[in-house]
Amino acid sequence: MPTVLALETSCDESAAAVVRGNVVLSSEVASQVAEHAQFGGVVPELASRRHVEALPLLVERALHQAQLPLTAMDAVAATVAPGLSGALLVGSVTGRSLARLAGVPFIGIHHLEGHLCSALSGDPAPELPLLVLLASGGHTELIAMRSEGDYERLGGSRDDAAGEAFDKVARLLGLGYPGGPAIEAAARSGDPERFAFPPGRISLPGGGFHPYDFSFSGLKTAVLREVERWRQQGEELPVADLAASFQAVVCRVLVERSVRCAEDHGLNGVVVVGGVSANGALRERLQRVSQERGLALHLAPLVWCTDNAAMIGLAACRRFGAQQQSSLQLGVAPRWPLGEADALYGPPPF
Ligand code: KG4
Ligand code: ZN
Repeated sequence: MPTVLALETSCDESAAAVVRGNVVLSSEVASQVAEHAQFGGVVPELASRRHVEALPLLVERALHQAQLPLTAMDAVAATVAPGLSGALLVGSVTGRSLARLAGVPFIGIHHLEGHLCSALSGDPAPELPLLVLLASGGHTELIAMRSEGDYERLGGSRDDAAGEAFDKVARLLGLGYPGGPAIEAAARSGDPERFAFPPGRISLPGGGFHPYDFSFSGLKTAVLREVERWRQQGEELPVADLAASFQAVVCRVLVERSVRCAEDHGLNGVVVVGGVSANGALRERLQRVSQERGLALHLAPLVWCTDNAAMIGLAACRRFGAQQQSSLQLGVAPRWPLGEADALYGPPPF
């Protein structure tokens, strides 16, 4: 079992963890969310600066919690794509330096593979092939995983990511950042059927709709129109009902299209990962529908849904097990398809 020190700095969470095989020995996260909240979203320059400040101490704490020295690591891993360039660079340079210092391989990890491994490394391990629904602040994708490291994108959002829609709608409703947890809390006392918001469909050139693609920007505009209508009438905004109705339609389309995609492609299991998979209403709906349809459902434990370094370590242990390591010259990429994750283990593609 390899032991790996892993770093995550792709967005607004600085994190370090020590993972041995499928076991997380320590996981330290310093969230910058509260600081970015006053700007209503992530400020990239500020995120980089906070990673620079936080990372050394987080690394020390992760090793201390695991009761292991740096010299006990078999590899050092860091997220190298996708994400905010400046933020990724902090984790990348720290990871490559520590790997060099310890004389062990450096393993660059694709952030979305990290999210995926948060649900794949359970015991017993989910059986392949699987459909992956990845719903985070930056991505909403449906991916077929037929074997280890083999990813085929089958659909996804054409505009805003699901988490981004939660964040934008929360801002419209005056609920603050990050929007997901705020909307979920407000929705608890709301009526999900009060407003019929559009499910967001992508038209096909020959007629009909794309069965596995999503569009969340029209939904956000529909909420905006409703908010404006109430404001014009000078009435108090029905925040709970708006939040519940918005959340219900997002959950419905995510579940409906994932299930259809899995069934159409003969994939008997569904894995749901990323920040949005922490949503209780989504988890309940997934559980109910997958049971009805006879699909095996795998959800990441709640603590691993949002960004952390444990998931990066889990991914790195799998790559290490496949004898893969990255060049010390590997840089970072703000965008990089998950299907090209294998390229991180050859001559540097960026
Ligand atoms: O995976 P993540 O931590 O970071 C990215 O890689 O993007 O996802 C963050 C996103 C944010 O947009 C946040 O609003 C959303 O996940 N999120 C949620 C919930 N918790 C976090 N969305 C819906 N319900 C939640 N409980
Ligand atoms: Zn993430």
